[in-house]
Amino acid sequence: MLDIKITRTTAPKAKPQDESKLGFGKIFSDHMFLMDYTEGEGWHDARIVPYGPWEMDPATTVFHYAQEIFEGMKAYRTAEGKIQLFRPDCNANRYNDSADRLGMPPIPPEDFVQAVKAIVDVDRDWVPHSDGASLYIRPFCIATDVGLGVHAAKHYRFAIICSPSGAYYAEGLDPVRIYVEDEYIRAAPGLTGFTKCGGNYAASIKAGELAEERGFSQVLWLDGVEKKYVEEVGSMNIMFKIDGKIYTAACTGTVLPGVTRRSIIELLKDWGYEVIEGKLAIADVMKAADEGKLEEVFGTGTAAVVSPVKELDWEGKVAHISGGKIGELTQKLYDTLTGIQWGKLPDTKGWIVPVEEQ
Ligand code: COI
Repeated sequence: MLDIKITRTTAPKAKPQDESKLGFGKIFSDHMFLMDYTEGEGWHDARIVPYGPWEMDPATTVFHYAQEIFEGMKAYRTAEGKIQLFRPDCNANRYNDSADRLGMPPIPPEDFVQAVKAIVDVDRDWVPHSDGASLYIRPFCIATDVGLGVHAAKHYRFAIICSPSGAYYAEGLDPVRIYVEDEYIRAAPGLTGFTKCGGNYAASIKAGELAEERGFSQVLWLDGVEKKYVEEVGSMNIMFKIDGKIYTAACTGTVLPGVTRRSIIELLKDWGYEVIEGKLAIADVMKAADEGKLEEVFGTGTAAVVSPVKELDWEGKVAHISGGKIGELTQKLYDTLTGIQWGKLPDTKGWIVPVEEQ
C-alpha cells in the first residue's frame, strides 16, 4: 500500500467548455501522480502534485536510450455521476510485463491501481460528462540516471497524467481507411512488440506519416519476418470477420496484448462466435474481400475503443468493407463495451472498478 502525499493546486485551470471538441490527449487535468525509484531503496515518495513540467539533466538516459514504458486507460462517468475504471488490473499486469522486458523495476499491481484511483479521485471533476468522452489516463515510467553508458538505470520516475478526451480518430466512429505497410516493420520475434514501450511507437511514426499523406488513418503492420501475416494497427489491435468467424493475430510476442482486445474476444465467445487467434495472411484477407466473404474489419484499443475499418490497401489492391458503413457486429461490440464502461449496461463480468471519493 502506497503512502501518497497530496498537494492540491492553488490555481485550478478552467475545465473544457465544449466536450464535443476535446479531441484526444490535448489538454491535461490539474494534477499528476509521481513516484521515484532508487536501486536499493525501491519505490519512494509517492505523491500527487499540481500538473506541470519538471527539470531533467540533458544526459538523463531516457533521452538517449529510450528506456521508457507506458500504459493507456480511461475513467468513465456514469449517468449517476459515479467514476469508474475498466479492468485496471490488466493494465497493471501488462505494465509489469513491459517493465520486465525493458529491464525496469516492477510496481506491485495493487500499488499501480491505488495510484491510478488516487489521481483520478483528486481530478474527478475532470472526468467528462458527455457521451463518448472520458478521462484518458497515461501512466508511464522513464529511466532517470544521468550518464551516457548503456545499461539498466538505477533510478526511475513513474508518473500518471490525465487528459479529458473524446474519440481518438478525427473520424469518430466513422469507418477509417488503413494502409497495409509492406516496407517497414513494427516488431519481430524476440523484440519488444508485446510491450508498451515508446520505442515501438517511435519506430512506427514514419510509416504512419507516409500513410496519412496518402489519406489513410493508420497502417496495418504485417509480421516482421515474412511480411505476410496481419499483426496490428498503429494504435489498436485488429479483427476480421470472414464468413461468420472472427480472426485476429495471436499474442505470441510481437503483438500488443490489448485489454480491449481480450475483452472483445470474451464478448464474442459469449455470443457464440468462433474466434481464431492465429496467423492470417493478408493475401487471404484480400481474397476473402474479392469473394465477398470479408464481412467486417474493426480495430480495438483503449483510445480507439472499437473502430470500424472501411478500406484496406495492400500492394495496389483495395479491399472495400461493409459498403463503407459500420458493420452490424462492430456496432454491437461498440455499444456493449461502451455500455459496460459507462455503466449503462450491467457489469456481469466484474470488469468495472469504482473510484470512491476519498
Ligand atoms: C491506448 O489505446 O491507450 C494507446 O495507448 C494507444 C495510443 C498509442 C494512443
